[in-house]
Amino acid sequence: MSSSNTISPKVVTTHVLQEMKMRNEKISMLTAYDYSMAKILDLAGIDVILVGDSASNVMAGYVTTLPITLDNMIYHASSVQRAVQRALVVVDMPFGSYQGNSREALSSAIRIMKETGCSAVKLEGGEEIVESVQRIISAGIPVMGHLGLMPQSINKFGTYAVRAQSTEEAEKLIHDAKKLQDAGCFALVLEKIPAELATKVANSISIPVIGIGAGGGVDGQVLVLHDMLGINQDFSPRFLRRYHNLFQEITNSVQSYIRDVKSKDFPSKNEQY
Ligand code: KIV
Repeated sequence: MSSSNTISPKVVTTHVLQEMKMRNEKISMLTAYDYSMAKILDLAGIDVILVGDSASNVMAGYVTTLPITLDNMIYHASSVQRAVQRALVVVDMPFGSYQGNSREALSSAIRIMKETGCSAVKLEGGEEIVESVQRIISAGIPVMGHLGLMPQSINKFGTYAVRAQSTEEAEKLIHDAKKLQDAGCFALVLEKIPAELATKVANSISIPVIGIGAGGGVDGQVLVLHDMLGINQDFSPRFLRRYHNLFQEITNSVQSYIRDVKSKDFPSKNEQY
């Protein structure tokens, strides 16, 4: 340990996550998109940092995750990776960078690995992306799957409501989870599905299952950093636990600064040369 508020620097690998599942130790995962935040998360001891395509919403201000580009994701991911010494860094493959065919998927994944130095990629989808997943993995790139609510398909479904509530959809999700495991995925994200179904998936496959809005019966949890810190105030789903109200904290600090500048209190004699 380097100081009392940092944890052991043992590097987290996909193998370590597998061991954590086997000994029933929950996996912690958060998103990050920049160097400074990633450094805080890593020193705090987070297991996995996801450079999510939610950057499209929280960093760029788009309504959906669709507009963010491969170049944008590479910029965010390389900034994050430069800060990280311990956590496993996983990068979302953005919409349009893998859906065309498996060759395109592989060349996008190779760009991410070469240009960011990160450790793995994440793709949304089930059986329909298995060929791409296999091709990426056979090039030596670890892949995390993502089922349930898949924000890149929002225009197909038209809503961010809870997924897999019907028997048919639930059976397809279980089938897809097994296909992704058999294709070689090292872990799977399940987003916004009934807790009972998520637990069933986590118990029926051997790779770690990380949930967001999927209950406590899975192997780990992920949240979007800006949501859990209360920076983003526009999003309040039931599954979100807010650990802070940074929107208010930052507003207070900025208003104090404005007051100090206007009143000529800042800078003081000690704050000048
Ligand atoms: O992009 C993202 O932040 C994600 C998480 C919600 C899992 O995919």
